[in-house]
Amino acid sequence: MARFIDELKRTHDAGALRASDINQEVVLFGWVASRRDHGSLVFVDLRDRGGVTQIVFDPETSKAAHEIANTLRPEWVIGVRGLVRSRGEQFSKKENKLVSAANPNIPTGAVELSVLEAYVFNKAETPPFSLEGATDTREEVRLEHRYLDLRRQPLQRALRMRHDINLTTRNYLSNQGCMEIETPFLVKYTPGGARNFLVPSRLHASKFYALAESPQLFKQLFMVAGFDRYFQIVRCFRDEDLRIDRQPEFTQIDIELSFINQDDLFRLVEGLVFAIWKAALGVDLHQHFPSGRFPQLKFDESMEKYGNDKPDLRFGLPHTDITDLVIEHEGGGIPFWAPIAEKFKSQAYRRDLPAEIVKAMVVPGSSPLSRTDQEKLEQLAKGMGAGGLARAKVGPDGTWLQSPLSKSVTRDMVLAINAATGAKEGDLLLFQFGKTSLVHMVLANLRVHIAKKLGLIPEVGHGDHWNFSWVVEPPLFEYDDEHKSWAAAHHAFTRPHDEHVGLIEQDPGKVLCYRYDLVLNGFEIAGGSIRLHDPEVQARVFAALGIGDAEAQEKFGFLLSALRFGAPPHGGIALGLDRIAMLLAGTESIRDVIAFPKTQKGTDLMSNAPGLVGPHQLAELRIRTVGEG
Ligand code: AMO
Repeated sequence: MARFIDELKRTHDAGALRASDINQEVVLFGWVASRRDHGSLVFVDLRDRGGVTQIVFDPETSKAAHEIANTLRPEWVIGVRGLVRSRGEQFSKKENKLVSAANPNIPTGAVELSVLEAYVFNKAETPPFSLEGATDTREEVRLEHRYLDLRRQPLQRALRMRHDINLTTRNYLSNQGCMEIETPFLVKYTPGGARNFLVPSRLHASKFYALAESPQLFKQLFMVAGFDRYFQIVRCFRDEDLRIDRQPEFTQIDIELSFINQDDLFRLVEGLVFAIWKAALGVDLHQHFPSGRFPQLKFDESMEKYGNDKPDLRFGLPHTDITDLVIEHEGGGIPFWAPIAEKFKSQAYRRDLPAEIVKAMVVPGSSPLSRTDQEKLEQLAKGMGAGGLARAKVGPDGTWLQSPLSKSVTRDMVLAINAATGAKEGDLLLFQFGKTSLVHMVLANLRVHIAKKLGLIPEVGHGDHWNFSWVVEPPLFEYDDEHKSWAAAHHAFTRPHDEHVGLIEQDPGKVLCYRYDLVLNGFEIAGGSIRLHDPEVQARVFAALGIGDAEAQEKFGFLLSALRFGAPPHGGIALGLDRIAMLLAGTESIRDVIAFPKTQKGTDLMSNAPGLVGPHQLAELRIRTVGEG
């Protein structure tokens, strides 16, 4: 060992050598990716995080090294000293002549290393799965041996990309005058927002910290403290149900700025996103957004057309709200729609409260769906909680065919819906009606499902369609049907539009606010708001939410106090770094871009977290458990 590492230092990484290095003596360290015996010659692909180099052991060059080569197995860790040489030529049986032996598929393909001296640092057991090439090994097995999985190319690339994103973010935001400051992870639990992980306090029996779900309150305090422009690449913790784009601990690029408006903040973030895309992929987003700006979509329009606030804008298939038509036509002869129209007429109806709506979506006749496809769609809708999926094919003269609706629907209703949705002969109309949230959710999912089926969006990892959009101007309050009261749609410190402040008491549902999300190809990659720094308006918002002084003090005490000591106008945003990395890497799961992720069930298969702890530890915390979950 003493000679390698102590005397012979690594001169290059395994991805560095080129034709220009020929005849140089170099030292490489790394892992045996593969070994091939060719008569007396032994070829080894040597891998490290920089790449792969072919190394050749020839007994004529070094008998001792060649003897070592005969013992090598995959994943052994070795050091070699050798001479870089051209791969030269080899005889091709196919072409019946000498051809270049260079491998154009790898950056070091023009050269190989003729080994003069070798040393085995460590042997390795046979790995439970191959670390070379594509893998069909189950994810569970790979997660259990994540340190091996991390040696594979896709994960090496993903983590390198994260490094590039972090570096670019720090440089860009520092150049924009932002300062990176840290905030605590162990914080006081406050209700509302995401569900928190709790951490028992040993020193204060029966008391708990919460793990911060984001630095939200603290970054606002930085503004009060005069730090003006802050950022942090920060870990956040949320005990939520997990999905492909959610982890219980994840990383945000968190930003807060003073003395700015929404547009100033958008410009800063757009510049950051452009810089990240350039650094991670070499893509210049000006190709897609020549002005350097992302388009903006109003929240209401997003809900109406796409059924959610993070639409995939790589394709159309918009929805049409036909509730008003149904009311106007008193149900249009359709038995299920008549009661909806009836309800709207009654005094109880308030258009801003969650009510029942009717929506339609057109699948163009140019991409027909078979009967079986349609039945599958209905099953899918039912799986999401829908009663069914009413549908009709548009025939000549606009009549509806192949549909139970066609028996009773009035001609006027048919023509009105065809006109509103733009449905033409051959098109298929799909309908959902019922509770607003359910209708939106079902149709939003069907829209994406149908787009995939019709090939309107490329498979994950293919295509370079980067459809960014800001989603802006959502309502400040949303009606909580269960508790029959207004709730903050985002958080209680979002600034309403000045012209809507007067509506806070009279018509809360109509108050729009300066909250925004950045969406990309159907994923929310960032969210934030301009904050409410005016204590008078703040008090009115709390009143509308039914939050009394005592409750406000209990929930937000220190922030409320701070806001009374000269808070500047401020606002901010947080970008979901893992989601961005997932989209940049073109992978299907956020786990593919996180070094040590948790499974869908929140477990770490390698370390077996979460785990049981001993009775003495629980006793120290004065906690008694009531059985295993
Ligand atoms: P928000 O809750 O919208 O805002 O989070 C910001 C962004 O973080 C990402 N994200 C997640 N990524 C992975 N796993 C999760 N469980 C997860 N949850 C959220 C999303 C999201 O857009 N304090 C505010 C920001 C602000 O107002 O400034 C906040 O945390 O990409």
